[in-house]
Amino acid sequence: MTPTATDASTKTSLTGIKPTDTPHLGNYLGAIRPALKLSEQFKSYYFIADYHAITTLRDPVALQQNVYDVAATWLACGLDPERTVFFRQSDVLEVFELAWILSCLVATGQLERGHAYKDALAKGDAAPNAGIFYYPVLMAADILLYDTDVVPVGKDQKQHIEVCRDLAVRFNHVYGDGVLVVPEAHISEDAPLVPGLDGEKMSKSRGNSIPLFASAKELRKVVMKITTGSETLEEPKVAEGTTVYELTKQLTPSIADDMKRKLEAGNYGWGHAKQDFFEALDAELGPKRDVYTAFRSDEEKLDRVLADGAERARSLARATMARVREAIGIARPIDDLRRTVSLKRSDIPM
Ligand code: TRP
Repeated sequence: MTPTATDASTKTSLTGIKPTDTPHLGNYLGAIRPALKLSEQFKSYYFIADYHAITTLRDPVALQQNVYDVAATWLACGLDPERTVFFRQSDVLEVFELAWILSCLVATGQLERGHAYKDALAKGDAAPNAGIFYYPVLMAADILLYDTDVVPVGKDQKQHIEVCRDLAVRFNHVYGDGVLVVPEAHISEDAPLVPGLDGEKMSKSRGNSIPLFASAKELRKVVMKITTGSETLEEPKVAEGTTVYELTKQLTPSIADDMKRKLEAGNYGWGHAKQDFFEALDAELGPKRDVYTAFRSDEEKLDRVLADGAERARSLARATMARVREAIGIARPIDDLRRTVSLKRSDIPM
C-alpha cells in the first residue's frame, strides 16, 4: 500500500482552561485566539478544567461564575460548539478512573519535581494539598482520555505535557503498544508574553490586566492607563519594547507597523498611540462583546452547550477506557457491555 501523509484534519487538538478567573486580554492573545485557530485544522476537544481549579479556588459561587464566564468568553471569541467538543471536565467521570491508573505508573519523585508543587512550597505553603501534587496526573488523564495528538498550551505547561508523554509511553511499554496516543505540546517558543498595563506579564492577580468585554468607554479608560515614556509630543520615539507597541503588535501587526513609523517620525504622542491601540482593540472585541453579553445572560443555554459537548466527549472517553481496562486486565467483556448499553445484571443471560 502507498503510504499516505497524515491528514491533519484527523488529528486531535485538546486543551483545558482552568476557571480560576474571568479571562482577560492576555488569555485571549496567548491562549484563546491561537487555540481557536488550531481548531480550524484539527478535530478539537476544549474543556473547562473545573476539577483542576479546586486545588486553589474554594469559593463555590466564584467557581460556578467563572465556569460560565469562561464558557461565554470562548463562544463569543468564535468557538463553534458543533465543530469543537466543548465541555466541563467534571462531566466526564472516566477521567478519574484513568488518573488513578496513571498514578500507579508515576514515581512520586517525578511529581515532587512538578512546578506547581514546587512553587507552592517556595511560596511558603509548608503543606501544599495533595491535589496540587497530583495535578499533573489528572492533567495527563485529561489529555490521554481523548486520544490527543497536540496540546496547545503556554510555556508554563511544558513540564505537565512532558509528564503526560512519559506516562503514555510508560503505559504502552507496560501494557501494550498503541493503547494510548502519545501527545505533543503545541507551544510557540517565541510567543512573547502579553504585557499588562505596567509592562509586566498580564495577570489578574497583579491588577494589570485589560478586560475583554468591558464597555468601549471603560476599555478606553483602562487602555489610557498603560505606562509609557514621558517624551514630548514632538520628539521621535522608540516603539520597540514599549508596552503599547508590543500589545498592538500582538493584536494586529499591520496597525503596529503604522504605529512604529509614526512614533519614530515624531509629532505623535503616547496618547495617540494608546488611542490607536484602543481603536484596534475595540474593533476586534466590539462585535464579540455583544455575543458575550448574550451568552453570559443565558446560563441555561451555556449549560445545554456544555452538556451536549460532554455527551460527545463521554463517548470517546468510554471507548478509550474500554481499551485501557482491557489492557490492564480489569475489564470483563460483560462489564463493558453493561457500561455501554446500561443493562442491569438481571438482563444479562448467564
Ligand atoms: N493546567 C492547565 C493550566 O493551568 C489547565 C489544564 C488542565 C490543561 N488540564 C489540561 C491544559 C489538559 C491542557 C490539557 O492552564
